[in-house]
Amino acid sequence: MRAIVLEKFGGLDSLVYTELPEPEPLEGHVVIEIKAFGINHAEMHMRRGEWAEAAKVSGIECVGIVKSCPGGEFPVGAKVAALMGGLGRTINGSYAQYTRAPVSNVALIESDLPWAELAAIPETYATAWTCLFRNLEISNGQTLVIRGATSSFGQAAVKLAVNAGVKVIATTRNPARFAMLEKLGASRVELEGPDLSKRIGEAKQIDAVLDLVGNSTILDSLAMLRRGGRACLAGWLGGLAPIADFNPLLQMSSGVHLTFFGSFMFGTPGFPLSDVPLQAIAADVAAGRLSAKPSRVFGFDEIREAHRVMEANEAGGKMVVVH
Ligand SMILES: NC(=O)c1ccc[n+]([C@@H]2O[C@H](COP(=O)([O-])OP(=O)(O)OC[C@H]3O[C@@H](n4cnc5c(N)ncnc54)[C@H](OP(=O)(O)O)[C@@H]3O)[C@@H](O)[C@H]2O)c1
Repeated sequence: MRAIVLEKFGGLDSLVYTELPEPEPLEGHVVIEIKAFGINHAEMHMRRGEWAEAAKVSGIECVGIVKSCPGGEFPVGAKVAALMGGLGRTINGSYAQYTRAPVSNVALIESDLPWAELAAIPETYATAWTCLFRNLEISNGQTLVIRGATSSFGQAAVKLAVNAGVKVIATTRNPARFAMLEKLGASRVELEGPDLSKRIGEAKQIDAVLDLVGNSTILDSLAMLRRGGRACLAGWLGGLAPIADFNPLLQMSSGVHLTFFGSFMFGTPGFPLSDVPLQAIAADVAAGRLSAKPSRVFGFDEIREAHRVMEANEAGGKMVVVH
């Protein structure tokens, strides 16, 4: 099969096309003929050697058709999504014609949506849904701040939260992107910056913050919450450096909650993929209640260009690759 391998850690030229043997059927696993896959920030970090682990074939998610499943958990020929479970990290991932994912990390996603749209759903929507409705337990009528909202993860979160009747205040560093976030349903857009808690009108009244800028802003996010409010740290757009000299006694308000989510937990006992309503999300997209249109669609031969666009901050939303 054709596959894209990480020949070394580094720049775009680290992504190299090659031929690899197709994965064999294996008990507890699903071999998937990949039709399309999403592009993720994690894969850029893996390419650069910045992540703890990186497999030879990158790619943490895909959609496609079941080719083999010896345990019978999924019927051969079914449409499925696969995400995490070590894909692209500890086992070969989705930058190929076929991949082999553990059954715990595969979900049926029966839908007539085009593959490019289906591919925009798994990792981004599963993670956004989990952060919003599990970690933050956000509900109708609450006020939520989404920091880094123009990212594909952020846009998915805006859409899911707005659909759930949540008042969303979204952030971007770029005023030219305010209108796009308002169009997604954000009730207001704020300029992203480290001092947002001092500028935001609803300071100390915010129910929840989904922080995708990350370690550099999470303390500021905690500072804008009401008593009992929650901040979920789930992205690192502002960099991977740790929070320097974190001293809760001096830096954290009383009565607020800090929570974290990493999608690498999907498929582990406490975080079954079946918890996430992927099928319902796909149905919402098909019915027009939710848009999952990718911002860019690339061919399999264009992986370097896809990574270049991601690195240049030109993605403007979810990017996918179709075979
Ligand atoms: N927790 C998890 O399981 C999980 C799962 C998926 C992704 N993630 C993380 O979530 C984040 C978003 O991922 P993605 O793939 O959706 O990203 P993406 O679409 O590539 O994000 C692009 C956006 O990042 C913003 N950005 C770039 N540099 C920034 C900076 N220094 N400070 C603030 N904003 C910056 C830009 O917003 P503006 O220019 O408009 O400000 C841009 O629109 C990443 O850190 C990713 O690793 C986490």
